[in-house]
Amino acid sequence: MELPFAESYKIKTVESIQRSTREERLQWIKEAKYNLFNLRSNQVFVDLLTDSGTGAMSDKQWSAMMMGDESYAGASSYYKLKEAIADITGFEYFLPTHQGRAAENVLFSALIKEGDIVPGNSHFDTTKGHIEFRKATAVDCTIDEAFHTELDHPFKGNVDLNKLEAVLKKYPRERIPLIMLTITCNSSGGQPVSIANMRAVKQMADQYGVPVFFDSARFAENAYFIKLREEAYRDKSIREIVREMFSNADGMTMSSKKDAIVNMGGFIGFRHQEHFEKATTFNILFEGFINYGGMSGRDMNALAQGLYEGTEFDYLETRINQVAYLGKQIRDYGIPIQYPYGGHAIFVDAKRFLPKLPKEQFVAQTLGVELYIEGGVRGVEIGTLLADRDPVTRENRYPDLELLRLAIPRRVYTNNHMDYVAAALINVFDRRKEITKGFSILKEAPILRHFTVELERVK
Ligand code: F0G
Repeated sequence: MELPFAESYKIKTVESIQRSTREERLQWIKEAKYNLFNLRSNQVFVDLLTDSGTGAMSDKQWSAMMMGDESYAGASSYYKLKEAIADITGFEYFLPTHQGRAAENVLFSALIKEGDIVPGNSHFDTTKGHIEFRKATAVDCTIDEAFHTELDHPFKGNVDLNKLEAVLKKYPRERIPLIMLTITCNSSGGQPVSIANMRAVKQMADQYGVPVFFDSARFAENAYFIKLREEAYRDKSIREIVREMFSNADGMTMSSKKDAIVNMGGFIGFRHQEHFEKATTFNILFEGFINYGGMSGRDMNALAQGLYEGTEFDYLETRINQVAYLGKQIRDYGIPIQYPYGGHAIFVDAKRFLPKLPKEQFVAQTLGVELYIEGGVRGVEIGTLLADRDPVTRENRYPDLELLRLAIPRRVYTNNHMDYVAAALINVFDRRKEITKGFSILKEAPILRHFTVELERVK
């Protein structure tokens, strides 16, 4: 008998989670103004809101925390992290920050000015938010295939080089401070970018004299997909692939809360001293001194260890197999999802799940609320609420994809939890024809509205 696949770790510490009744959930979600971010965690049974900062640290990470050096300047924890970043990514210069969006804030303060253009592949919402906050524009150059959920393509995060070149030709060099490549591309469904595409982007960027930065939150998952799907890299180790990926960038922003498996932390990596020095002033202003940024010494120790664990093949195989395990059950039942499965999440195609619901009624949000009511499973809307309003016209932006993301925390849930989630979603699918009304907005913030928006049911 062939031995089945099994997780590459065992569990040392556990945390209780609470079941609830449908009646309780109906009441709680109403009190939360139908915004899943407003629920208390004990009102949720399986929490797939995000894979960010929700992972389980290892025994080695916890023990590294005990060895944290809390010196303000020159801490050994800082040097340990600096060495780990240089070793894994190849970037010799780095600045610690408290999380990914802080890295964006610091880097963009140094590089982006009003009127600038920042091309990329479906920028993440905080990235776009930081660009638009500076009255600059993010231009999406993702390949069209990414927007057809059922179309099988190994690298749906790739940049369309024709779209990119059109942007580079249209605007003068001074208005394009950088190209931002998100690996894996969260907004298009946790989809990877190939090394061939990274290389082509870098070559084109070099021709036009524009630096390339990687938004690297899920760089290790991207490397795993490259190993599986890009012929030339089949026999390379994850770490070799990671080094090669980053050799095509001038720098990186990192939300360490994802692939470095820590609960808080981030950093910016730089190839060039000039970029590092420009950003340093803003880091000191916004985050803290260059030797700790927004992190304590113990956090930096756990992060250094997490960078190694997050780039182990066995860990990544366990991780990505679990996402696919959930995805397969959902897809086999005929529920429309972004395919191939993403690295960190399953993205349900809400437009095709609820085809009759008007787009003005927030289709993916409606599906997210129904899934919560069904089983206490919390996902997150990646659709019209998230896409926000156009900064100039203030009209709602309707994105090509209206998705409900089920993001799986790292090393946290078992496959029994995945079975539970699949069953809850299947139940919603079976009664989808009864879901004929969505939501309207009661109250919203001018930027990043999805976090705090208040909704009411359309009557
Ligand atoms: N870039 C990407 C691709 C992300 O997915 C995130 C966060 C960030 C940057 C910002 O990092 O949260 O540490 O400030 N994504 C989380 C998510 C919030 O749920 O996908 P952060």
